Amino acid sequence: MNLTRSRLHPTLRAWAAAAALCAAAGCGAPHGPATPTGVTVPYSAHGSPGSAPVQPIDFRHDIHAGKNQIPCLYCHYYADRSPVANVPAVSVCMNCHKFVNGSTPEFEQQIEVLRGYAARGEPVPWISVYRLPDHAYFNHKRHVRAGLPCQACHGPVETMPRIYQYASLKMGWCVRCHKANLRNVRFASSIDCYTCHR
Ligand code: HEC
Ligand code: HEC
Ligand code: HEC
Ligand code: HEC
Ligand code: HEC
Repeated sequence: MNLTRSRLHPTLRAWAAAAALCAAAGCGAPHGPATPTGVTVPYSAHGSPGSAPVQPIDFRHDIHAGKNQIPCLYCHYYADRSPVANVPAVSVCMNCHKFVNGSTPEFEQQIEVLRGYAARGEPVPWISVYRLPDHAYFNHKRHVRAGLPCQACHGPVETMPRIYQYASLKMGWCVRCHKANLRNVRFASSIDCYTCHR
């Protein structure tokens, strides 16, 4: 397949490697290197692989975003233009799976389940993994346009056979990064309560 190549940005790769080293050595450095736009990413994300619900189709980010290098925004195309990122409709899957078959009988069976939803005109009832309480406000577009890679908050999704909640999503996690970027020249963040509670 001729798919657009997307690679992990070198700065992010360095950050991820440093974070892994840091976790192994238990070092207490408060910040990772900045993203290309100068936004600082603290070493504050905590994996919580417990929250990895079984999905109605065994959709694999490692095969799509990893092995086949399909860009995140090919499927989640609202993430850089709207507060809420989208999960792709069945029609997006069918752009490829009209033609692309599974590599094993088990995977082919999963693609048949997908084609069943498409034939019935039903959405796939995906179970959401990342969910803030209603009193907290988040905005994808602002973070993505500030140069933060998806991986800063969602972890190395392109290596995940099944997606899991990577960051704690607690207020302290948000505030820690906002504090680190209070005086950012281009993308200053804020810790006013109103920023996230409105
Ligand atoms: C841009 C093309 C593209 C899109 C869009 C796409 N896929 Fe795939 N998908 C692939 C390729 C390539 C493979 C690997 C096939 C292989 O290795 O034989 C694959 C494999 C799979 C597999 C089986 C895993 C395997 O290795 O055989 C499933 C299940 C699947 N896709 C589901 C989906 C679902 C659900 C969607 C929509 C959310 C989707 N795909 C969207 C290209 C795509
Ligand atoms: C081929 C389409 C496709 C690509 C490419 C893709 N995703 Fe997804 N993504 C999905 C589908 C379908 C779901 C819902 C099923 C699931 O959770 O596995 C999903 C779920 C997610 C979720 C959880 C959403 C929720 O409801 O909590 C996150 C976060 C996510 N993707 C991030 C990424 C990132 C980051 C990349 C790039 C590294 C990426 N995705 C690439 C199709 C895709
Ligand atoms: C600064 C952290 C951060 C970044 C960067 C980020 N996300 Fe998210 N993402 C979140 C949070 C927090 C939620 C839960 C939002 C909610 O419940 O209101 C979420 C939820 C999602 C969802 C579920 C749908 C939704 O919007 O609630 C998808 C899909 C997703 N993100 C994909 C992506 C992709 C793809 C990228 C990169 C283009 C990305 N995210 C970048 C923090 C982030
Ligand atoms: C990795 C760093 C990082 C994390 C984690 C992060 N943010 Fe941000 N956030 C920023 C930066 C930098 C900006 C400023 C962007 C700009 O100026 O355009 C920002 C801006 C915002 C804005 C936009 C303010 C406005 O006026 O619309 C909101 C809302 C927000 N963040 C909420 C959250 C919430 C809620 C969380 C946790 C669920 C969170 N952020 C986690 C870095 C982060
Ligand atoms: C950068 C974003 C951000 C800022 C700034 C922020 N909050 Fe929050 N807050 C959150 C998020 C996300 C949650 C939900 C997750 C949690 O409960 O930790 C939350 C939860 C809360 C809760 C509910 C806790 C619970 O146990 O249910 C209270 C109360 C609260 N915030 C008060 C405040 C006050 C007061 C301020 C200003 C001093 C403030 N917040 C500033 C993001 C933020």
